[in-house]
This record gives sequence, structure tokens and C-alpha cells, in this order.
Amino acid sequence: MIIKIGSYEFDSVKIEAEAPKEEPARQYYFIKICRSMLKAKFEQDVALGSALKRYGEENLEMMEKNGWYGTFHIQTFGCQMNSRDSEKLDAVLRACGFYETDTEQADFVLYNTCTVRENANLKVYGRLGVLNTLKKKNPDMTIALCGCMMQEEEVVAKIKKSYRFVDIIFGTHNIFKLAELWYNRLIQQSMVVDIWKGTDQIVEELPSERKYPFKSGVNIMFGCNNFCSYCIVPYVRGRERSRNPQDIINEIKRLVADGVVEIMLLGQNVNSYGKTLENPISFASLLKQVEEIEGLERIRFMTSHPKDLSDELIQVMKDSKKICRHLHLPLQSGSTRILKAMNRRYTKEQFLALADKIKKAIPDISLTTDIIVGFPGETEEDFEDTLDVVRQVRFDSAFTFIYSKRTGTPAAVMENQVPEAVVKDRFDRLLKEVQNISAQVCGRDVHTVQQVLAEEIDSHEEGWLSGRLSNNTIVHFKGDPSLIGTLVTVYLEESRGFYYMGTLS
Ligand code: 5AD
Ligand code: SF4
Repeated sequence: MIIKIGSYEFDSVKIEAEAPKEEPARQYYFIKICRSMLKAKFEQDVALGSALKRYGEENLEMMEKNGWYGTFHIQTFGCQMNSRDSEKLDAVLRACGFYETDTEQADFVLYNTCTVRENANLKVYGRLGVLNTLKKKNPDMTIALCGCMMQEEEVVAKIKKSYRFVDIIFGTHNIFKLAELWYNRLIQQSMVVDIWKGTDQIVEELPSERKYPFKSGVNIMFGCNNFCSYCIVPYVRGRERSRNPQDIINEIKRLVADGVVEIMLLGQNVNSYGKTLENPISFASLLKQVEEIEGLERIRFMTSHPKDLSDELIQVMKDSKKICRHLHLPLQSGSTRILKAMNRRYTKEQFLALADKIKKAIPDISLTTDIIVGFPGETEEDFEDTLDVVRQVRFDSAFTFIYSKRTGTPAAVMENQVPEAVVKDRFDRLLKEVQNISAQVCGRDVHTVQQVLAEEIDSHEEGWLSGRLSNNTIVHFKGDPSLIGTLVTVYLEESRGFYYMGTLS
């Protein structure tokens, strides 16, 4: 079977020779070796009858027909960055000969973890207990953990000590090495741990599997240099590194040639894109280049830091036909005093002025945000400031979080941690305010005709589809599944708070 990935000649990889030193050739080499090892094991299991027992007759037939030799399952926790990483991990596992199952009863289970709040960590430990039971039933199962949580030394120590059944642990800097790490695991018969403290390396041209054929995330940068005092991301994702604009443009062109009409440019702080490149360029100039790509219909990006949002960017958005009318602009707190303690480097007034400037320049923009409640030292007065900003800006929606103490961050050792009951009360009040406003704001386009990207079959209503407006609001409308992946014109008949019911026009 010929396996072609991107522009890479997978078929010409020579596994008889030594592993190439350079990337991504090295990984294609390991993918090919792993594939042949998996195939040999599968054929052995088929001969012994254990494959029939494990997969059942129907699945086994399908596997043999398609050249699949095992099953995989990836569970992704956390943000869009992790989702994008998982698409890359997914593609490597497919290239190795696995096919995807929707449960953890698989031969290769991978958890791509998040550690931004403690809850995310607890979820992973909980799931590991379940995996242990599954592995007892299928001892050939491989369990791999990667992502932000694995960049924390205490986590790795705990897994090594109390979760010995885990096979592979790697972090955020070396996800491209999955096949090599699995190969190491196959030959060494003990836990493989490969965590890098940081990296300057960006490996291009690796395979990637897309969840949707018509839209895709595109990393434009990795890491973060902002060190907001509550946030663990700079410690686990490392220093800011921007991809070369040409690599980004080439990737998007390839995606478009492959049927993608919408892309989401991804970075922790896209507004500081390009500053560390050999030939620095601004995020706004990158957007202008992306806009030129023929066949691309929609451009989204995430996340913007208010302190770096330039007038040039507002202008480029205003002039653009393709950049979506949506800006996610994390506020975190409305109190200047707390913002200072958070190291956010803007004041309440500066945020308000910025939101105002954006709305004046682009009146149909939808603003969304992230807010943390209960940061150390937050008083009722500080919280009132947050409510005040929420009322003035009138966000389309807001992700609200209870402050979570992350060991190693400056905020973790700050005095005056806010009592739980106080935080809970503020959280509830904030949520109510946010939802009230959101219900009023989201319906503002009712009775207008808008472009909608048809995205999927509506799971509630037969014969209906769901799609998104440029400003990211969901619209349900009657339509044929063949429209999925295309931009259609829809009359927004009725607003139901957070979404619309519409008709094709
Ligand atoms: N506690 C609560 N929320 C946090 N976030 C980041 N770190 C923490 C923390 N320690 C939130 C911020 C950020 C979003 C991705 O997660 O609001 O914008
Ligand atoms: Fe965390 Fe702040 Fe960087 Fe966002 S900008 S990832 S909140 S440190």
C-alpha cells in the first residue's frame, strides 16, 4: 500500500539503513518501522486467533481489507493548541497502521493533557485508573501521556511511582517524536520518558489529520513570554517561537488545495507573532499575506493579548473580506490593581478604551473574553470592577474561571488567597451577568441575511444542518448534507439567545 503524506515521499523511506539524523525524515523512518512491527504482530495474532477475539469478525475483516493492524484512541484535554497537536499525533498513529476507535478499549491510548487549572490534572488521574483496568484485560495495550501536564516534574515523578502501567510519557516540545518513542517502547520493554525543558526546534512537514475536511487550525507560533502571574503556560509550553511566514503560507495553500475554506491561526498571543523572527514581521502583515490566498474564505485567529493589539491589526481586520468578525480578547479582571498583580500590563481604562476603539472601527464585531474570579487579594471592590467592565463592553460570551493555584507560578505564593465560599458567590454572580448580556447581544443580527459556513448535520433535528456566522454564532437551518463545507446564504429567522434558527435564502 502506498502511503503519501503531504509532499513527503513516504514510500522511499529506507528502513534497512540507519535512522536519518534530520527531521522529519527521521520520524518517517520510525513510522515505517513501527508500521511493519505492528503488522507482524497483527498477523501473528490473526494466526493465533487472538485478533478475532479482540476485534470481532466484522472489525477484523474491515481491518484486513484496509491494511489496518490495530486501534487507537486519543483523548484531548484543554485548549485549541492541544486539539491541533492531537491532529498531528492522530496522523502519526494512522500512518503507523492504526485506525481510530471512539472508546478507550483500544490498542494505543493517548491522553494529550492540560494543566492550566488543577481540575484538568485531576481528570487525568481519574481516567488513568480506568485505563489500568482496561490494560489488565489487554496487556498489549500501549498507554501514552503527553501535553502540558507532563512538563511538570512532580507529575512525571508521581506517574513513575504510582502509575507504572503507563508506557510512554512525553511533553509539549517533542510531539513530533511519537513514532520514535513508541519504537523505543517496543524494543526496551519499560516506560519511555522523554520530556524536554524547552526547544527552539519547529519541525515542519509532519503528517496531520484533520477533524473537519473544510476547516483547520494552523499554528503560527508556540509558547508564551508573558508570564501572567497565575498562568503555568509559559513554564510548560516554553518561550515564544514564531514559525516562518512562508511555512505558514505554504501550509495554508496546501490545506486550501485539499478543500479547506476556513483556517484558525493559533498562538498563545498571536499579537506578538513574528517579533523574534530573523526578519521580524507583524501579525497584521501575516494576516494580509494570508488574505491573498485564493480559495480561502475565512480567517480566524486566537488568542489576542490586549496589551499587544495594534491599530494596524484593527485596520487590517476592518479592510478584510476574509477575517471573521470575531475577536477573543481575554480580560481576566476588570480591576487595575488585580491586573497589575496578574502582570497583564494594561489597566481597566485601557481595556475599555481598546474595546471601544475596536467596536467603533468594526461595528459588527463580536467580542468574547476569559475572566478569572478569585485571584489572590481580590476584594469585593475589585470584583465590582470586573462586573463593571462586563456591563460596559457587553461581550458576546465569556469563559469564566475560578482561580486555580498552579505550583511554580508567582500567584501561588501570594498572600490573601480568597476563601472558597466568597469565590463561589462571585463566580455565580459573574456568570449570571455574563449570560444575561450574552442573551441580549447574541441576537442582534436577527431578521438579516448572512453568510453561514455549513459545518455539520444538526444532531437534534433531522434534515437540518448547523453552521457558523462570521462572528462565530451558531445557526441551524434546513439543508442538504452536500452543503457541508460550503458558504451558504441564510435568513436568520429567529434568535434563541445563543444561536439562531434560519432558512436558506
Ligand atoms: N486559574 C484559573 N484560570 C486560569 N487561566 C489560566 N490560568 C489560570 C489559573 N491558574 C485561564 C485564563 C486564560 C484561560 C485559557 O485560562 O483566563 O485566558
Ligand atoms: Fe498564560 Fe498570560 Fe501567556 Fe495567556 S498570555 S498563555 S494567560 S501567560
